[in-house]
Amino acid sequence: MTTIASTPTCANTPLLRVRDLRKEFKVRLGFRKAGVVSAVDGVSFSIAAGQTLGIVGESGCGKSTTARLLLGLLDADGGTVEFEGRELSWSNRLTRKRLRRSMQMVFQDPYSSLNPRMSIRENIGFPMKVHGYRKQERAERVATLLEQVGLHRNHAFYFPHQLSGGQRQRVNIARALALEPQLVVCDEAVSALDKSIQAQVLNLLKDLQLQMQLTYLFISHDLNVVEYMSDRVVVMYLGQVVETCSSEELYRNPLHPYTRALLSAIPKLDPDSTPVPLQLAGEVPSPINPPSGCRFRTRCPHAMAVCATERPALRRPVPDHAVACYLYEAGG
Ligand SMILES: Nc1ncnc2c1ncn2[C@@H]1O[C@H](COP(=O)(O)OP(=O)(O)OP(=O)(O)O)[C@@H](O)[C@H]1O
Ligand code: SF4
Ligand SMILES: [Mg+2]
Repeated sequence: MTTIASTPTCANTPLLRVRDLRKEFKVRLGFRKAGVVSAVDGVSFSIAAGQTLGIVGESGCGKSTTARLLLGLLDADGGTVEFEGRELSWSNRLTRKRLRRSMQMVFQDPYSSLNPRMSIRENIGFPMKVHGYRKQERAERVATLLEQVGLHRNHAFYFPHQLSGGQRQRVNIARALALEPQLVVCDEAVSALDKSIQAQVLNLLKDLQLQMQLTYLFISHDLNVVEYMSDRVVVMYLGQVVETCSSEELYRNPLHPYTRALLSAIPKLDPDSTPVPLQLAGEVPSPINPPSGCRFRTRCPHAMAVCATERPALRRPVPDHAVACYLYEAGG
């Protein structure tokens, strides 16, 4: 068994490599009391070019904070992010401009992420305007993008309230693609949509990935969606990575007790199967004062004395499959 010093590796050269990322938020707990939320604590992963990495975990486990850190929308307290082998520095204006082109995000809420007072043409064209595209160039590119995301070029003259939720999310995708990015972060990008529309948007994302050689970081709490979209998956619990491997391996052979509990609760596509309730005791503990040692120990059916002492390291009990749990220490 191998202990992993930094991050599990992908087969190809990674487009993005995140090492030991950390973020704490100071919060008020009363008039004179303040606390610290440990939102992201030592997160490492990498994504190979042209692949999709899924991040799953319950609400509040740090998925969006991780995404915002690597896109430079939040300052990290520690750790590094490398893009195409170079460490990112958001402080340099020119580098920041280049990176803003290369890394884009599709948000959860297709309505509030569009400006209601701007036409679809203006919404999609806005990032191009910021990057100095001329008016005619923008208009032509918007028309092409609308067709690429399965809308009509005449939709350019609509306003967001005149479109359905699925159509608005297509507009968001078009806007994210406007500057020809390499990496697209989809943060709960289909969660607000009906199931049938979800499937259409997921298939669109897959088609666009093939056409444009896009790399995705796909964040969702829906394990079915993550399985469908991802080549590899990272499972997060309370700000930390607890398991990571290929999507196929995770769903066939989940190792971490948290992953097993999550997978036992997902509704199967077979209509005759009965969903098993989530076999986890209690709620996710507060990230303000997380449990010592393994953060999952307060809900884990296998917790042992050692689990309270020190954080379990990510280890590979099977090749290319990493898990942070004392059950998989040597002899465990
Ligand atoms: N600006 C902030 N100030 C204080 N705490 C914050 C801030 N942003 C996030 N947090 C806290 O950090 C933790 C992680 O939040 P985050 O939004 O990353 O979770 P998430 O996994 O994306 O959850 P969800 O699935 O609900 O979107 C949460 O406890 C959240 O309350
Ligand atoms: S380290 Fe201990 S508490 Fe944590 S998941 Fe493994 S057995 Fe459970
Ligand atoms: Mg989130």
